[in-house]
Amino acid sequence: MGQSDSKKAGQTMWGGRFSDNPSEIMQAINVSIDFDRRLYAQDIEGSLAHSEMLAACGIITSDDKAAIHRGLHEIKDEIEAGDFPWSAELEDIHLNIEGRLKDKIGEAAGRLHTGRSRNDQVATDFRLWTREHLNHFVVRLGGLMSALLAQAEQNTDTVMPGFTHLQSAQPVTFGHHMLAYLEMFARDRSRFEDARARMNESPLGAAALAGTPYPIDRDMTARALGFDRPMANSLDAVSARDFALEALSAATICATHLSRLAEEIVIWTSAQFGFITLSDKFTTGSSIMPQKRNPDAAELIRAKVGRIMGALTTLTIVMKGLPLAYSKDMQEDKEPVFDAFEALDLALAAMTGMIGDMTPRKDRLADAAGAGFSTATDLADWLVRSLNMPFREAHHVTGVIVALAEKQGTTLDALPLSDMQAIHAEITQDVYSVLTPLASARSRLSYGGTSPVRVAEQVARWKDKLS
Ligand code: ARG
Repeated sequence: MGQSDSKKAGQTMWGGRFSDNPSEIMQAINVSIDFDRRLYAQDIEGSLAHSEMLAACGIITSDDKAAIHRGLHEIKDEIEAGDFPWSAELEDIHLNIEGRLKDKIGEAAGRLHTGRSRNDQVATDFRLWTREHLNHFVVRLGGLMSALLAQAEQNTDTVMPGFTHLQSAQPVTFGHHMLAYLEMFARDRSRFEDARARMNESPLGAAALAGTPYPIDRDMTARALGFDRPMANSLDAVSARDFALEALSAATICATHLSRLAEEIVIWTSAQFGFITLSDKFTTGSSIMPQKRNPDAAELIRAKVGRIMGALTTLTIVMKGLPLAYSKDMQEDKEPVFDAFEALDLALAAMTGMIGDMTPRKDRLADAAGAGFSTATDLADWLVRSLNMPFREAHHVTGVIVALAEKQGTTLDALPLSDMQAIHAEITQDVYSVLTPLASARSRLSYGGTSPVRVAEQVARWKDKLS
């Protein structure tokens, strides 16, 4: 940390009425520059817009504005080159940049803060940062959806077991399973879009809490920063963090979806399931067990929801019960959001990579699809359709046939007709047309069902939407 600031008593940026310096402990708890320096680009963008407006409204001269702009651009370059003298004594990103601006352009730097406060400044910076990340997640989710779509397209008629309670239930298609996640991630994407639309209002110009007597133009700064409009209430503008809570809520839901898919990948890559393989790119070895290929990326994705939801919980509790308007508690808003968004970004990238990387093992999937008497419902439905049997009776007859197949150690489609006829005399050869997993999947033609025909239709719909 640099020592550009004077150590004389009361010489902090806000120290006019102070005669002593803050204690070290006071400084330590107060300082935020170690994490809020991430907002440097947004802070500079906000200051450029604010000073432009101040000049346009005749509140500062255009010479001062020009000096401020030159200084801010230089500061941005310094930060990006790693040459910026960060100062803990200057507390946060706002005072660090303003302090540096003073070093560079002198007195004019002191005019930048006219008609604003750090309260609306930090709210603006944080909104800009959050908005940028929401935009980014929308793009990332589009990439993940495309990866799922590509797998779906290649596997519209790849049969696999569908589970309930993780017990074999009915055959489904791998493409159908991929599209189920695509639908979830599409909703996640729209949640991020909704959050972005709702948050896109400018706090800048709310000043400390009550507005300002200077004849500022809040519409102008809102427009310059890409906001739809200025926030209508200055108290709300500096106090609101629900935009971050909403973004974290959407992130938590998205991370939950990621964790479910990650869990399936962990299960599917196990030797016992063997439903898919991942390449060396997305697996790791064990230092002691040479046979191992561990799905570490999937496991880490599965875990990320913990810290993301932790961030939501943290910020919810920070905000709970805070009176209007700004309180320093709100400085604790940023770290959880930074951490959660970084985690989500990485999880989305890793999942997209893994989905593109994985290869379904069609033979294993087909074998597994037939195991566990997965076409028992099809047999019952055949009895209802072909023999006009009431479903309850068909369910019972099927149960007896399943028990027999189990006793003989065979599958339903391999059980001899004579054995079935011994249980119900009217069963005919035609029953075998519904007993294979593929036939079962093909028969599920209802809208949204697993039939390859329906899956191909959904693939076509998504291709259209995603292109
Ligand atoms: N570092 C502060 C934060 O992140 C900036 C706002 C400080 N405002 C104040 N009145 N002390 O919240």
